[in-house]
Amino acid sequence: MAVRILGIETSCDETAAAVVEDGRKLLSNVVASQIDIHAQYGGVFPEVASRIHIETIHEVIKQALAQAYVTLNDIHAIAVTRGPGLAGSLLVGMNAAKGVAIGAGLPLIGVNHLEGHIYAQWLTEHVDTLKFPMIVLLVSGGHTELIVMKDHRTYERLGGTIDDAVGEAFDKVGRLLGLPYPGGPHIEQAAKRGNAEAFNFSRAWLEGTWDFSFSGLKTSVLREIKKRYPDYNAGREPAPRSLPVPDLAASFQAAAIEVLIEKAAQAAEQFNAEQILIAGGVSANSALKQGLTERAADIATVFSPPLFLCTDNAAMIAAAAFQHYEPEAVSQLAIDVTPTWPLGM
Ligand code: KG4
Ligand code: ZN
Repeated sequence: MAVRILGIETSCDETAAAVVEDGRKLLSNVVASQIDIHAQYGGVFPEVASRIHIETIHEVIKQALAQAYVTLNDIHAIAVTRGPGLAGSLLVGMNAAKGVAIGAGLPLIGVNHLEGHIYAQWLTEHVDTLKFPMIVLLVSGGHTELIVMKDHRTYERLGGTIDDAVGEAFDKVGRLLGLPYPGGPHIEQAAKRGNAEAFNFSRAWLEGTWDFSFSGLKTSVLREIKKRYPDYNAGREPAPRSLPVPDLAASFQAAAIEVLIEKAAQAAEQFNAEQILIAGGVSANSALKQGLTERAADIATVFSPPLFLCTDNAAMIAAAAFQHYEPEAVSQLAIDVTPTWPLGM
């Protein structure tokens, strides 16, 4: 019998619910984005995010059930993001999920958001070709992690960022360049018109580790801008019209992704992985995907989920929950949110 899981995700600034069958078949996927609201502040405003989650969550759940043509009678478990994420935002999803689980007498499964980003790949048509060990490069606004996935639910974390997440760096540099929030996609667009060698930003190799660092790179971009426009109050006023945005964007992007590409390819070689999965919102960056595909051509195949599954959604949470689902399992109604929760713990 097919197992249908209702997933709920509110870890950051998307209110999302979805119904997934057997961890791989998407029946519905509803995402209410708050991006327009947070754009006014140039980043996610946590208090505002939780308030909007409260206003939106019930309608989003209702729509997810309706769009899947199911009722709670057809659902076998409720999955909810437990962490990592913003505490207040997580709480809204957790409480909604507990309410639905108790009301419908269904088991509750708490899911790690990062594991969700990985299992988004299991919702794609490539699912039958996936094999372990697999290198996972998890890149988002909140995370930059390099992981060896040895089997289902089995992860070895090799390293990660020691300061800003790579998506966060894209967003901060976007702000310096006067681009709209979130900066990632706008930097990628601007970079297409620019020369990646115009500025030689140094790469943070952190030799001998699998770690990353992006805050120095952000400061280098700021320093370059200040050199030309000492009075420009970056991020607080419109950027000077003559700021070489495309060249700065292209040079920044090249420096940021080169280290990701190199370390992911080396990890695949060292751990004999024939596949590299790029997960999380930054996997939308085609320069990253193309660059890694070329660098790892003789080592591993590179793939990532389609864009709508890369950015935060609840389908990925339901897909990950399926890996933890057992028909007679005791419901995890006593769980609480875990704003900092490393993968595999
Ligand atoms: O996974 P996600 O939707 O949310 C988090 O869990 O953080 O990722 C959002 C992040 C943002 O920082 C955004 O700027 C970045 O992904 N992003 C990109 C691109 N599209 C989204 N970064 C670089 N290039 C892109 N094309
Ligand atoms: Zn995410």
